Amino acid sequence: METLAENLEMAEIAGTATTVSEAMNTRHSIRRFDARPVEQEKLDRIFNTSLRAPSWKNSQPWRVHVVMGDKLKRLASLMTEAALAGKVTPDITWPTQYPADAKRRMFDLGMKIYGVAGIDRKDKAARDQFMVDNFKFFDAPVAVFITSNFETNYYVGIDIGCYLQSVMLLAREQGLGTCPQAALSATPEIVRSELGLPPEQKVLVGLSLGYPLPEKDLNRFHTPREAFEEKVKYYT
Ligand SMILES: Cc1cc2nc3c(=O)[nH]c(=O)nc-3n(C[C@H](O)[C@H](O)[C@H](O)COP(=O)(O)O)c2cc1C
Repeated sequence: METLAENLEMAEIAGTATTVSEAMNTRHSIRRFDARPVEQEKLDRIFNTSLRAPSWKNSQPWRVHVVMGDKLKRLASLMTEAALAGKVTPDITWPTQYPADAKRRMFDLGMKIYGVAGIDRKDKAARDQFMVDNFKFFDAPVAVFITSNFETNYYVGIDIGCYLQSVMLLAREQGLGTCPQAALSATPEIVRSELGLPPEQKVLVGLSLGYPLPEKDLNRFHTPREAFEEKVKYYT
């Protein structure tokens, strides 16, 4: 069986990123945050600039809800309670079917992530607790919910993906860490009720945002990618 030390690429997310390539190469998901607040100017810069993301016919399907302070604490508590009670009712059904090669990567991610988090894969209680950390935004001081009143289809998904990656790269530029989270779409009724959103605003995805805790292995774990030759082909 492979050992973590042999196969894990560890990389600190530290400091700002000055080029798009640097932000792209050094971003990875952060799952342990410092509680210290994020400066308002940084948030303004990220959430203003990310609105430049492209979308189908410039339709801009996103609504962006940036939650902090007491509101965040209340959401964390309500969402955690619901998740523990198994009340997971996403607006958009989560996928269940994947090709075999994707299943292998997903299994590999689980193995590695539980390894760095110090969780025994057979310890269901510990795995459940780790899942629940999602709903506490991994202690981040900022949570972002992306909603849409559009008919949800493949192209809206692409638009939202473009938006989400833009936020993550802009955050990385500012020296901030992020974790994109489908988990944050698990309890849409709570999100709508707490943020005063109408029923037509579907909760598509969320993101935790803040300063990474530097000493945590979980934050230094850089996930592998398939070889260039496997995924990209030039045609002439
Ligand atoms: C749409 C989407 C949903 C995700 N949902 C979760 C989630 O609910 N919880 C979590 O810890 N990570 C989540 N992730 C993070 C992925 O696990 C992560 O992006 C992937 O393993 C690649 O690792 P990296 O982000 O560190 O490069 C999500 C990522 C995306 C793009």
